[in-house]
Amino acid sequence: MTRRICVSGASSGIGARIAVDLARDDTDLTLLARRADRLDEVATRAREAGAASVSPVAVDLSEPGEALTTALKTATANGGFDVIVAAAGANAALSGDAPAGLAEAGGAAWAAWHWEANFRANVLTAVTLIEGLRELGGVADGASILLFSSIAAYRGSGSGSYAGTKAALHPYAYDLASALGPDGVRVNVVAPGYIAETGFFQGQMSAQRHETLAGQTLLGRAGVPEDVSGTVRWLASPASRHVTGQIIQINGGAQLGH
Ligand SMILES: NC(=O)c1ccc[n+]([C@@H]2O[C@H](COP(=O)([O-])OP(=O)(O)OC[C@H]3O[C@@H](n4cnc5c(N)ncnc54)[C@H](OP(=O)(O)O)[C@@H]3O)[C@@H](O)[C@H]2O)c1
Repeated sequence: MTRRICVSGASSGIGARIAVDLARDDTDLTLLARRADRLDEVATRAREAGAASVSPVAVDLSEPGEALTTALKTATANGGFDVIVAAAGANAALSGDAPAGLAEAGGAAWAAWHWEANFRANVLTAVTLIEGLRELGGVADGASILLFSSIAAYRGSGSGSYAGTKAALHPYAYDLASALGPDGVRVNVVAPGYIAETGFFQGQMSAQRHETLAGQTLLGRAGVPEDVSGTVRWLASPASRHVTGQIIQINGGAQLGH
């Protein structure tokens, strides 16, 4: 049976890889992110990989409103999603979007800016998607929902705000899993460690830092999007049918346990 799947953050990195890998199963795919041109490229790869249908939708998920509601209504016109992968996210402090001089000045104004920007990038992008879909009946009975945290939620991210906003998704997932469990809906969180070959670091990952992060793993290498996609494919499948309310770390052993 064709599964209806929604992947956010599908224009780049981990989300793009997940979209293409899930397309290999029998799927109707909806791909969400802001950059239409990048989404179109991924949509082409997903069709080539075998998806039954692919609908790329350019939308800012941190902005609840008419554009998002219209996009989600169209996407769910034929029924709710069986799999929802909320991979959209960013460390806003790396984005270069802050007003000129703010980061250099530091202090409370800079802190307020990056905390708010990271809240929008990591919490609202997930919450507006999931709650928007729930409002429209867009979560099918028996669905698998996946949220994206980070190793940073366990050990910090330097400035606090990226890590803190990823950690905020953990209790949200627990509450969602409780609320939706009676409908057979599973809710889990994946928390990747350092994943190379993504747009996440905005060109600011030095060779030396790459080696340091790879060296912190027990497997001696950096992760790549395929490493996350494999786990996501399992969590999206009936093979993981008794797994809900969990946070699954994917970090090559760079952070143990939890
Ligand atoms: N790479 C890592 O080392 C790492 C580690 C731990 C966790 N993660 C998490 O993994 C997820 C995927 O990141 P990635 O590494 O693949 O980075 P990436 O290549 O930069 O991808 C991030 C994706 O999120 C989308 N996005 C960001 N803000 C959005 C918004 N407001 N509305 C809609 N889409 C938005 C981006 O698309 P547009 O720019 O086109 O909107 C892009 O598709 C993120 O949640 C990230 O925090 C990454």
